[in-house]
Amino acid sequence: VPAQYQISGSTSSTIASSIEASVASKAIPPGELLPPIRDLASSLGVSPGTVAAAYRLLGQRGLTASDRRRGTRVRQWRGEERTPAAPPGVSTDFVDLSSGNPDPALLPDVRPHLARMTDYDAATYGAPALSPALADAARAGLAADCVPAEAMTPTFGALDGISRVLSTSLRSGDRVAVEDPGWPSLLNGVRRWGYVPVPVEVDDEGPVPDGLWGALAAGARAVVVTCRAQNPTGAAISAERAGALADLVERYPGVLLVEDDHGHGVAEPGSELHSVVATTLPAGQWAFVRSAAKAYGPDLRLAVIAGDPVTVGRTEAHVASSAGWVSHISQHLVAALWSDHSVEQVVAQAALAYEERRVAMIDALAAEGVPAVGRTGLNVWVPLARRDAADEASSVTAMMASGWRVAAGGTFRLVSGPAIRVTTASLPATEAPRVAHALARSIRSHAPGGY
Ligand SMILES: Cc1ncc(COP(=O)(O)O)c(C=O)c1O
Repeated sequence: VPAQYQISGSTSSTIASSIEASVASKAIPPGELLPPIRDLASSLGVSPGTVAAAYRLLGQRGLTASDRRRGTRVRQWRGEERTPAAPPGVSTDFVDLSSGNPDPALLPDVRPHLARMTDYDAATYGAPALSPALADAARAGLAADCVPAEAMTPTFGALDGISRVLSTSLRSGDRVAVEDPGWPSLLNGVRRWGYVPVPVEVDDEGPVPDGLWGALAAGARAVVVTCRAQNPTGAAISAERAGALADLVERYPGVLLVEDDHGHGVAEPGSELHSVVATTLPAGQWAFVRSAAKAYGPDLRLAVIAGDPVTVGRTEAHVASSAGWVSHISQHLVAALWSDHSVEQVVAQAALAYEERRVAMIDALAAEGVPAVGRTGLNVWVPLARRDAADEASSVTAMMASGWRVAAGGTFRLVSGPAIRVTTASLPATEAPRVAHALARSIRSHAPGGY
């Protein structure tokens, strides 16, 4: 056992806890191979079966993954790859284009709305899960997008909502079809919640039908799709694609369809939403998750789930049996924001700015001979020409030296190719050519023979 970290314990659970503590303190770094089972067993004086059981426990908790050829490896979680430390000699004084955050300057100011919450009655135990004010505001917004809203319940944001919805019908070990590349929090979450992610290819119009068909045929019990502002590619589901995806899901009765609408308000100014659930109302279980995070502020921690009554009822029961309910203070605040005409204008302005910034970056990269995508949302995705993950890291490091932190594609993908994600949300369009030039150089520097 390597001397740099200590593993102790005499049972599978104490050994697993000891490793977990070392992972938490980074004494065992992400990506590290754990000692071979026999070596650790002999150094601890326990049977190999006990160590194997400890490793199984860690796998079930999502802490490790088996690296088939070499053993058990500590997982690399969200952010750990995306924000590598600056190498020695490289300035840490960079502009962060890696976060995926909305531009704080483009979020509506919520403070006047807090002060004006005159219709708010402090809820006590026994209050309805969904406040009537939020129900009205959410129903109006969903109806405008043709999303059926017969049953609704609030959750603490999209990720919380998706995890609870999945838990209403899945069991540990079930497969979940996810977009690849996709949102790291979801890819990591799916594993941490005990499910197995199955990759579905994405193009500009959303998940590719053949890819979804493959995942369903491979036994996926649930599908999570992003209707717009797909993270990281910016894909938005087209009308035709929505129909094709809905048809496929219908052919697999019992599969749960979850649609993530985190792009509500910021995706693409004036564009029509082509939601899969609105195109053909699924006969089985489904949920449409509308988060307030991107257009109104991540700190609101609120999403509304619309869905079939069984799924929504179970999700509500899940919240009731853990957090209790989503505070009516945040529900009232979001209801006020969703119903206010002046806020609507602020959000529409933000969507225009996001589009301008995205397009400026895509155009500037094109002028440098670097193809990139980003139809909607807050990011631009730059696929790398070679299928070599080391290129992501070297581009990220070179960009840092030029004064910008961008995100390595590694945390966003399962089997899709290497890429760099640039969050353009807060980057003025006038800056795009400088960033594009530096990025093109950072990519060319490791392409064999250049472009
Ligand atoms: C695809 C996707 N869904 C949802 C969210 C927002 O989630 P939440 O409402 O949990 O903050 C994000 C944020 O980055 C995202 O990229």
